Amino acid sequence: MQRCQSWGPLASVSWVLLRTCRAHSGLPSTACSSPERQQEDGVWKDFSSRLATGPTFQHFLRHASVPQEKPSSEVDDPPPYLTVDELSGRQRKVYLETYGCQMNVNDTEIAWSILQKSGYLRTSNLQEADVILLVTCSIREKAEQTIWNRLQQLKVLKSKRLRSRVPLKIGILGCMAERLKEEILNREKMVDILAGPDAYRDLPRLLAVAKSGQQAANVLLSLDETYADVMPVQMSPSATSAFVSIMRGCDNMCSYCIVPFTRGRERSRPVASILEEVRKLSEQGLKEVTLLGQNVNSFRDTSEVQFNNAVSTNLSRGFSSNYKTKQGGLRFAHLLDQVSRIDPEMRIRFTSPHPKDFPDEVLQLIHERDNICKQIHLPAQSGSSRVLEAMRRGYSREAYVELVHHIRESIPGVSLSSDFIAGFCGETEEDHFQTVSLLQEVQYNMGFLFAYSMRQKTRAYHRLKDDIPEEVKLRRLEELITVFREEATKANKAFVGCTQLVLVEGLSKRSATDLCGRNDGNLKVIFPDAEMEDVTNSGLRVRAQPGDYVLVKITSASSQTLKGHVLCRTTLKDFSTYC
Ligand code: 5AD
Ligand code: SF4
Repeated sequence: MQRCQSWGPLASVSWVLLRTCRAHSGLPSTACSSPERQQEDGVWKDFSSRLATGPTFQHFLRHASVPQEKPSSEVDDPPPYLTVDELSGRQRKVYLETYGCQMNVNDTEIAWSILQKSGYLRTSNLQEADVILLVTCSIREKAEQTIWNRLQQLKVLKSKRLRSRVPLKIGILGCMAERLKEEILNREKMVDILAGPDAYRDLPRLLAVAKSGQQAANVLLSLDETYADVMPVQMSPSATSAFVSIMRGCDNMCSYCIVPFTRGRERSRPVASILEEVRKLSEQGLKEVTLLGQNVNSFRDTSEVQFNNAVSTNLSRGFSSNYKTKQGGLRFAHLLDQVSRIDPEMRIRFTSPHPKDFPDEVLQLIHERDNICKQIHLPAQSGSSRVLEAMRRGYSREAYVELVHHIRESIPGVSLSSDFIAGFCGETEEDHFQTVSLLQEVQYNMGFLFAYSMRQKTRAYHRLKDDIPEEVKLRRLEELITVFREEATKANKAFVGCTQLVLVEGLSKRSATDLCGRNDGNLKVIFPDAEMEDVTNSGLRVRAQPGDYVLVKITSASSQTLKGHVLCRTTLKDFSTYC
């Protein structure tokens, strides 16, 4: 097992960073402490003195790797300076707050699964929390600013904490911890722990160290951590769908993107552990699984030697990668095939893919398999070949458009979505116009549009100039949003008069008499909650429940939503047989 580390010369030994911060330790005078608190004080004074003598260099080396596949019943030996009792959460309450992408939602569930096993309880009430953890995003400056602002509010909460309670601990998890490292601890002394995206297994220990009043951090990136053996805990027991992480990290190094620096190198989870998780979710009655990864369709499980042959990777026609072509392993088409066979009533989606990794075998499978949704996210980023080259995306506008045509021919009725960045370094009005025209040419059903935000460490930061004024970026972004909406409205209007298979999610947010769900293309569908026939139980009249498949006749459409009336309850299989 290898671990990679990109943090200063001392980092190879300091996989955890401990900082004594007595002024902010919050250690109370025993005079006003509760019995619980006094007991904790005694334990932590003892612990602090042991910690002062510190772990040995050998200890860090021994614990620098974490076995990937470990039976969940197996408990780690505690580090020599911590007892099992000190590592225990002792029913302290954790409040988790998630920012950013779906990957962070899944990471929150992984972090919680690890803490739960360690004796922590979960709370959704901020006021009752003993530990507040923010799962953060660094993709744009604005995402980080939101966290800094949130920390100001939490600072107040911490300072007002009653001394009779155990001191409140605050942690920054995820990309921002990874990107800024000690800068966070220096700037906000009230932050107690930092854990990068590959360090969640270390949370119980980091929190144990923080209990003694020291700041603690683990921002090591890993070459192989996939949390394969950690079953994420679903937040909402009534949820109809779940996310399953299949790979982590990204090797693409698009010139604008911080992700390869915050989430590290690309690595895939073994197929067997993914299938096991999907099987469990199916047994729990979930009806939709979204396979997750930063470059999800570049999936390559190399954990089984017999599949590590010299078979070269098929990329989409006209596309190239920024790295040496990889070989062998079990690829995305294989995984998709296996996952979709588990439960024919379970919808399969995946995000976020890179357009370079759509070989014909993947497109064919999406076309053939009824429960793989005919929905593809195809992040274009720009419509100008010149800008795409500066972004190091590995394709031209022409290759991208050809791929769109090929996908539409291979998967009739496919729904397409995309990401775009407005105002990248050196983008001219003509380049911007090219993006506008790509939006018009493709007519996406869904879109995610952003103003460019320069990120330190990226290739663009080192080699290019962030030369588009903020107001120009915003004006171009507005223009892109307007055109996207016009085109999406046209594309979605094509559904009017059609019948859509909708997976019911629950009540509509806007009206208590309406239900909402999603069609195969992942568009939101709203319809009145009405009695209907159940086609699998002829004569039975039912009302739709979350997790049901219903047929909805579409009567109107906007850029983001379809509306209609419900016809009957059905199954995915029945719908595919008769439609
Ligand atoms: N500025 C603006 N948008 C960005 N994205 C990634 N990095 C940046 C950045 N520096 C967008 C891309 C990507 C999506 C997840 O976020 O469009 O596909
Ligand atoms: Fe970032 Fe590009 Fe990787 Fe997506 S593919 S995460 S945009 S580097």
